[in-house]
Amino acid sequence: MVWDGWNVEGPVVAPGLMSALTVVDAVAAVDGAAVRLVDSVAIRLDEVTKVFGSGDSRLLAVDRLSMEVNRGELVCLLGASGCGKSTVLNLVAGLETPTRGTVSVPAGNTTLMFQEAALFPWLTVEQNVGMPMRLRGRRRSERSGEVRELLELVRLDRFAKHRPHELSGGMRQRVALARALAQHSEVLLMDEPFGAVDAITRDLLHEDLVRVRHETDVTILFVTHSVREATRLGDRIVVLSSRPGRVLEEFTIPGDGSPAGHELAAAPLVPRITEVLRHEIGRHGRG
Ligand SMILES: Nc1ncnc2c1ncn2[C@@H]1O[C@H](COP(=O)(O)OP(=O)(O)OP(=O)(O)O)[C@@H](O)[C@H]1O
Ligand SMILES: [Mg+2]
Repeated sequence: MVWDGWNVEGPVVAPGLMSALTVVDAVAAVDGAAVRLVDSVAIRLDEVTKVFGSGDSRLLAVDRLSMEVNRGELVCLLGASGCGKSTVLNLVAGLETPTRGTVSVPAGNTTLMFQEAALFPWLTVEQNVGMPMRLRGRRRSERSGEVRELLELVRLDRFAKHRPHELSGGMRQRVALARALAQHSEVLLMDEPFGAVDAITRDLLHEDLVRVRHETDVTILFVTHSVREATRLGDRIVVLSSRPGRVLEEFTIPGDGSPAGHELAAAPLVPRITEVLRHEIGRHGRG
């Protein structure tokens, strides 16, 4: 149930009482019943500015950028090379701190996934996927069932005993996706994760990602410079300006939840988004 931007789990609360409650994840007692209020926003950036260096080498990478990602949403951050997309992801991941403004992740933990799968070459596929659980101290017998489920989810169950060098690039990215999911983070931050694979493999990886996000309740912020990729995957697309990164325009894809419905709803937006991006790159090139 959604109410004024808040998800309310539990019995219904009077609207007047809702406005009086401002604490996120608060537990309120109403007629003796516990009501849990959960912030429906997973990621929030408020007027975020990021400056690298100082003096002559000062570089304004992100400028007063504000955006939100709701829980369970897949938002694509689309922009030209160097516009600050990775910087935004690093800020959300906590790897960078904003120069001004605030970044918060009310949803919980984040996991970053990059273009490079960065698997351990000496470990098998199942050992790579099980590594986050192993680091959390879970015994082999406890993790094997979940590792198997994750490998089934990314269609790699037949390759559990293989090592990374025996896999294609697309398969390695699927292992990386399963390993990212094994971290049980509420938020997955994906930085052009399919940028290094061929077009056909990328299409298949898109299908995998769409299936995975419908079978889990993970929130995804996905960085890309491809309009096609963004429209294929995103519930919403946030187009960034050329450096410094600012939100230029947002597009919501009003799908019906099915991949076919999504594609149908996205198709008319492709020319418009392409035009916005082209215009921005042209403007920057001339400026
Ligand atoms: N740690 C850093 N120190 C100094 N400058 C940086 C640092 N990280 C990024 N930058 C600069 O900030 C700008 C934005 O970089 P960023 O990597 O976020 O762009 P991007 O949109 O991800 O580009 P690409 O699509 O090529 O990956 C660039 O000009 C880059 O050189
Ligand atoms: Mg980048």
